[in-house]
Amino acid sequence: MKVTVIGTGYVGLTTAVSMAYLEHDVTCVDVDETKIKQLDLGNMPFYEPGLKELIQLRQDYLRFVTPSREAVEHADVIFFAVGTPANSDGSPNLTYLFSAVAETLDFIRTKNSPTVLVNKSTVPVGTADQIDRKIKEVGLEDRVKVTSNPEFLRQGRAIQDTLYPDRIVVGGDEYSSKLLYELYAGIAEQSFQPPMQALRPVGYRGPEYIVVDRRSAELAKYAANAYLAMKISFINEIANVCDRVGADVTHVASIIGKDSRIGSSFLQAGIGYGGSCFPKDTRALRFIADTNGYDFKLLSAVIEVNQSQKLIMLEKLQDRLGELSGKQISVLGLSFKPGTDDLREAPSFPIIHALLSQGAKVRVHDPVAMDKAMSLLPESVHFAVSATEALFNADAALIVTEWPEYTSLDPKDVVSLMRRPLIIDGRNALQAANIHGLEYEGIGIGSKRNCEYANMH
Ligand code: UDX
Repeated sequence: MKVTVIGTGYVGLTTAVSMAYLEHDVTCVDVDETKIKQLDLGNMPFYEPGLKELIQLRQDYLRFVTPSREAVEHADVIFFAVGTPANSDGSPNLTYLFSAVAETLDFIRTKNSPTVLVNKSTVPVGTADQIDRKIKEVGLEDRVKVTSNPEFLRQGRAIQDTLYPDRIVVGGDEYSSKLLYELYAGIAEQSFQPPMQALRPVGYRGPEYIVVDRRSAELAKYAANAYLAMKISFINEIANVCDRVGADVTHVASIIGKDSRIGSSFLQAGIGYGGSCFPKDTRALRFIADTNGYDFKLLSAVIEVNQSQKLIMLEKLQDRLGELSGKQISVLGLSFKPGTDDLREAPSFPIIHALLSQGAKVRVHDPVAMDKAMSLLPESVHFAVSATEALFNADAALIVTEWPEYTSLDPKDVVSLMRRPLIIDGRNALQAANIHGLEYEGIGIGSKRNCEYANMH
C-alpha cells in the first residue's frame, strides 16, 4: 500500500518505519528541511532504540521529503502525526494539524482515487469531525475519508509498542476501517523475522482490532493516558503515606498489583511522571472537560500531586543536609525516563532550578541527554562526563532517572567517591542489596532501607 506520513516526530517516524517494515511504500513528510536532509543521511532527530537500524533495513521502502503535491497525491493512506503542543491554558494547539490538513486537501483536490486521512496526533474530541467538515467544504467527501487512529506507544519502546500493540483502535467508517485493517494486517499476522521477532513481549497474545466512532477513539487516547497518570499519582501519594507510617511502598504496590482488577504495572512510586504525553494530555483532558461544562476533580488532583511530587527529593535533602547553600549536589539523570534523550517535562529541570535557587552547586550527568540539556540549563550547572565525575566530592546525589548505570552503582565506589555518601533515590531503583556504608533514602521506602551511615553519624 502507498502510505504518506506527515510529521517526523516520535509518533510519525515510528509509524513510518513500522509501515516500511510491513513492506508498505512510505513517504515521510516534514516542513523542517534540515530534519529531512538529516534523516536522508541516516541521522535521527531523537534517540530511540532500534529506529536507526530499522530505517537502514527498510531504506528501499522509505523516502524523506518536504511537503509537495507529489508527496501526498499517490498515497492510499495519509497519516497526520504533527505536534499538538499545549497552549498556556492547557488546550492543545491544533494550528500545525489544520494547516497540514488544508495543504493536503489542496494537493489531493484533483486526485480521482480514494484517500483515507488518518489522525495519529492526540487531539480534542471532535477534531476528526472538524476535518470531515473541511473535506466537505472542498467537495471531496466522496473520495476522502477521515479516521482517528490513536497511538499508544511509549518512548524508548516505540518500535516494540507499534509492532506488538495491545490494541489497534480505529474510529471511522467501514471503508476506512477495512483499509486500515489491510494496512495493519502484518501486525495482526505477527510473522516477523529477527531482529523484530526478538522484541515480542513475553506472553504477548496479538493485537485486538477495535473499530468505534471517531469521538470515542479520540477520547480513549486521553482516557488511557489520564488513567495511567492517575495510577502513578495514586501510588506516589501512598508512598508519601508510607514515609510517614514506616511502610514500604514497593511491598504495598506488589500486594495491590496482584489483584487482577488493579494490575501491577504503573505502580512504581517516585518523583512523578514527565514526558511529552502524560503532562500535556492530562491538562488537555481537563481543559476538554472544563470547556464542556464538567469539572474533572479527580484529574485535577492527579495533576496537582504530580507537580508537588517532583520536589519531594528537595524536602528529603533538606531534612538530611539542612541549608543547601554551598553544598555540592550531583543530579544523576536528566531525561524524563531512561531509554530516551527527551527532556520534555522532565522532573530534573524543576529539581535543578530549585537546588540552584537555594544556592547549591549542581553537577549533572546523563548518558544520552546532556547535549540537549546544555542549551536549556543555566551556565552555573556543571556537566560531568561520567557518573563518577558527578559523584566526586559531592555532599549528596539524587537519582532522578533510573538509567542502568546509576541503578547498578556499587555502594563501595559511591562511598569512596562522595564527601558524604548520601543518595536520594527518586525512582527506588538502586539495585545494590548491600548498601552498608551508604546513607540512602528512596520515595516511600525510607524507613526500611535506611542504613548504617545515618546511625553512625
Ligand atoms: C506514555 C504512555 O505510556 C503511552 O501509552 C502514550 O502513548 C504516551 O505516553 P511515555 O511518555 O513514553 O508513554 O512514557 P511511560 O513509559 O509511559 O512513562 C511516563 C512517565 O511516567 C515517566 O516519567 C515515568 O518515569 C513515569 N512512571 C511510569 C512512573 O513514575 N511510575 C510508573 O509506574 C510508570
